[in-house]
Amino acid sequence: MTYICCSMEIQVIKHTNSQKTLQMEPLLPYLEIIDTEIKNTPFPDKTLYEPMEYILGLGGKRIRPVFTLLGAELSGIPAKDAVNQAVAVELFHNFSLMHDDIMDRSDIRRGSPTVHKKWDEPTAILSGDAMMVMAYQYLIKNSFDATTNIIKVFSKMAIEVCEGQMDDMSFENQIPSKDQYIEMIRQKTAVLIGASLQIGFLVGKDDPEAADRLYRAGVNWGLAFQIKDDYLDLYGDEKIGKKIGGDILSNKKTLLYIITREKASAEDLKTLDYWYNTNTFTQTQVSESEKINAVRGLFDKYNAAEESLTLAKFYFKKGNNLFNELVLPREPRKTILKLAEMLVERDL
Ligand code: IPE
Ligand code: IPE
Ligand code: MG
Ligand code: MG
Ligand code: MG
Repeated sequence: MTYICCSMEIQVIKHTNSQKTLQMEPLLPYLEIIDTEIKNTPFPDKTLYEPMEYILGLGGKRIRPVFTLLGAELSGIPAKDAVNQAVAVELFHNFSLMHDDIMDRSDIRRGSPTVHKKWDEPTAILSGDAMMVMAYQYLIKNSFDATTNIIKVFSKMAIEVCEGQMDDMSFENQIPSKDQYIEMIRQKTAVLIGASLQIGFLVGKDDPEAADRLYRAGVNWGLAFQIKDDYLDLYGDEKIGKKIGGDILSNKKTLLYIITREKASAEDLKTLDYWYNTNTFTQTQVSESEKINAVRGLFDKYNAAEESLTLAKFYFKKGNNLFNELVLPREPRKTILKLAEMLVERDL
């Protein structure tokens, strides 16, 4: 299979339906480093590897590996010295997406069919598993003093992602509190963003205290990122490359839902419960758009979108405060803050 380079220009010209990378000038050199390395990754000519090339070739924003490269620069080493660790976090992320799409019954990702739709579920499970192991291979590719510590950080993060994904799935049939929701997104999404930054920094500097602060800043930015992801799932446009309203169809207990539930009148609560107990996957007579429109109507009535974006901004600022307490080199510092801002301001 021909590898599709995900660098912005090529992708936009050749694959207009693919998801674009972050269109931000200062990030381009970092994206270039990551794309070149991914493009040069040798994938054996076997079915197991085809979905890996496929999903990586569809692009994506590459947020996590950019954080890793910037983390390396913050520690005082050149970004490219952490390229293997950057690829590791992107491989891990893409593994988690392959499995997430099975769990969430999603048919589209990055504007194209999901792996389990294009191939089948066993292929998506196995290819994802192998991709996760490859992430470890990249993580320790250039072994050095910090390797053991980095493996610890990465493994703790990976287990937490599974815990978070488990809760996300359990919540399809339960009603979490706001705190439980925040803890769930911290684990499924935010810890990977925090660890991506922390690992890049650890490649260059043995300073656990600073690394931990960076992790905590990244986790807060990650919370903001996932709240925005939930918002875009319903209020974004086709640019996001996923099915609009997919979370409602899967009965996901997003912040939009939790806020609406907190404020809804008894009658609206009944309606909300009715729709979240009406499964379009099994009850084919119920149309998907009918369910999405009804639920969105309730979210809108209680200003759930506005309130959830306010909370996203709160976590964004909390991340900034933690980050700003560190004395760090000026250039990467500025770029990281810009990137963090994009996580809440983005529309894809
Ligand atoms: C999607 O992440 C999965 C979540 C944690 C919400 P991204 O929105 O970063 O996905 P890509 O890599 O850009 O496609
Ligand atoms: C995905 O969260 C988190 C992980 C993959 C670990 P979502 O299920 O919200 O991500 P999308 O919306 O499918 O990208
Ligand atoms: Mg999910
Ligand atoms: Mg999903
Ligand atoms: Mg989502």
